Amino acid sequence: MMDQMTIEKVLDAANIVDVVSQFVTLRRRGVNYVGLCPFHNEKTPSFYVSPSKGICKCFSCGKGGNAIHFIMEHEQMSFPQAVEWLAVKYGIPFSKREPTPEEKLRQDERESLFIVNDFACKWFQNILNNTPSGQSIGKTYFHSRGFRDDIIEKFQLGYCPDNSDDFAKAALTKGFRKEYLIATGLCYEREEENKLRDRFRGRAIFPVHSVSGKIVAFGGRIMKSDVKVAKYVNSPESVIYKKSNELYGLFFARQAIVKRNRCFLVEGYADVISMFQAGVENVVASSGTSLTSSQIRLIHRFTSNITVLYDGDMAGIKASLRGIDMLLEEGMNVKVLLLPDGEDPDSFARGRSAADFQKYIDSNQVDFIRFKVRLIMDEAEGDPIRRASLIKEITSSISVIPDQIVRAVYIRECSQLMQVDERMLITEVNKLHSESRRNSEEKTRKEPATLMEHIPGLQIADEKEESDPIEELRISIRKLLVSEKATVVDKEKMLARLIVRYGDKICCYTTYEGNDNYAMKVGEYIIGAMKADSLSFFHPVYKTIASLYSKHFKDDGFVSERYFLSNPDSVVSLTAANLIEERYQLSGIYKEMGTQQEEDNLFGITDHILSDYRLAVVNYEIRQLEKKMQSPDVDDIISLQKEYKVLLSARNILAKRLGDRIVT
Ligand code: CTP
Ligand code: MN
Repeated sequence: MMDQMTIEKVLDAANIVDVVSQFVTLRRRGVNYVGLCPFHNEKTPSFYVSPSKGICKCFSCGKGGNAIHFIMEHEQMSFPQAVEWLAVKYGIPFSKREPTPEEKLRQDERESLFIVNDFACKWFQNILNNTPSGQSIGKTYFHSRGFRDDIIEKFQLGYCPDNSDDFAKAALTKGFRKEYLIATGLCYEREEENKLRDRFRGRAIFPVHSVSGKIVAFGGRIMKSDVKVAKYVNSPESVIYKKSNELYGLFFARQAIVKRNRCFLVEGYADVISMFQAGVENVVASSGTSLTSSQIRLIHRFTSNITVLYDGDMAGIKASLRGIDMLLEEGMNVKVLLLPDGEDPDSFARGRSAADFQKYIDSNQVDFIRFKVRLIMDEAEGDPIRRASLIKEITSSISVIPDQIVRAVYIRECSQLMQVDERMLITEVNKLHSESRRNSEEKTRKEPATLMEHIPGLQIADEKEESDPIEELRISIRKLLVSEKATVVDKEKMLARLIVRYGDKICCYTTYEGNDNYAMKVGEYIIGAMKADSLSFFHPVYKTIASLYSKHFKDDGFVSERYFLSNPDSVVSLTAANLIEERYQLSGIYKEMGTQQEEDNLFGITDHILSDYRLAVVNYEIRQLEKKMQSPDVDDIISLQKEYKVLLSARNILAKRLGDRIVT
């Protein structure tokens, strides 16, 4: 984790207008700047940059934050990567936390393997571009496949000479350790001879990049039409390469995926490259194997929409139908694009312009469930037994879809398409759905757009896949926001905002800890008041903000906004950036107050919002209690009724206070 000092320095140096203008053309509008949002397609600018606050935000898609968040989102980097990127750019010296000896060892090994792969990639590229055999064999081969030179360069394609150990020799001469050459799989050792051999000799080289652009593996294609050897040879798994966690092309595709809000899925290296060259850049390949759930999640960070491309081969299509259920299960919206007979994405893209390709996509991609129904109906024509088992297959596909409304829409449509009673389908799907839910927690849920602002929106590109705390956090917040606590959380947001914005400002003078003229800060007042009522934030990030505040507000030179915006926990800093957002002031109490500056009335506002919040809590508790009292197995109704009365009168008092008080 980066230390806060470095982050503050980076944010001080990295002027937000300067950072954003590298990627977006900005025009001045009053004290702010506006431009076209880089995170979604739009024709009129809704991306605002506020130099005074150091924040940017799109008022249409909601993406933005401080300079670090902008770089994270735009370059799809992790928080530390983005800080480092800015630190390097603005010449801020930085140091990372000292790793533990174990971490260091692992890191050293990973680092070494990356360095070896990087060297190999450059070496293969150099052979391809600057040696006679590279040019006459490798280059000629790529050209024969229609790859342009700029694309060969971009994907860092290369060539490995057809001798037993040219690469091994070059690497050893450079001082690379034998164990790393073996661990990366670039070389291997035959038992009988104590000598390294090049795994990729005589092959055209396709480097495989991780989502952040590091080379984790290689694919090598044989160029002769020799049938005895495998067409492709790939790097074996290693500490830096888990085949099931990588998608070929994702590094180059991620921005286009976000921008187009769709990802095309193809089978192979050549498909990705040809489509990219044709201008369809949001394309990745599963490299010939069926998709894994971690690959799906990788795509899901960038979009929920996926189109699977098929060549016209029926056997291949049927074999892959199962894999598509996994996509549905992860909450993806899946479409299918069938290419004309005898074409694969590679051949189809060749010689077509992006516009032509796009036209074909638009008029031919179909929803997966409809596609499957059609396929199955054709197949089962006139065979009732086959038909019955196929209906089961369809219902099983529908049952894995997490969103209930989407399931209902499909059921209706399928009942019409297959001429099956809708009620029967509903029963069948519900049965299967509750079974599959029992097996796995519900993973994704559609969220209303208005709730998005409570949820940290970063899609963080990171190497490790196993557990994703940010995703878990987002899921827990999402659950909170569709629960009965939602109205309370809405008020929490206003309190959290006051803490972030005015945490270091004086709220009121009061008697406190023996001091009868104690200058109590806004955040201190809020947190103290909540504590007195035994209340704490439901929202996990606001809770973190409150506890960080309590820990640090007495620190020397504590400036609340600055502290939270530069917090090393990127979720905290992003949430802070969202909370500071200006437009937000136009709601609720601020309307009542008119245009009055809130800085001038911090006590009035804080107190009002606290009452607002308490009222929401009381209402929530009343609802809970009502439910309890209605339940058939309530045993102590008398004490519940007493409690109920107390809550009702508390509600009256609060409502009266809120109604009576006119903030002046
Ligand atoms: N593949 C592999 N090993 C093989 C065959 C295929 O790893 N022996 C992977 C490669 O990633 C390949 C993908 O599966 O790109 C799809 O295989 P295939 O359709 O056979 O190859 P194409 O991509 O069409 O390859 P090419 O166009 O170069 O013939
Ligand atoms: Mn092919």
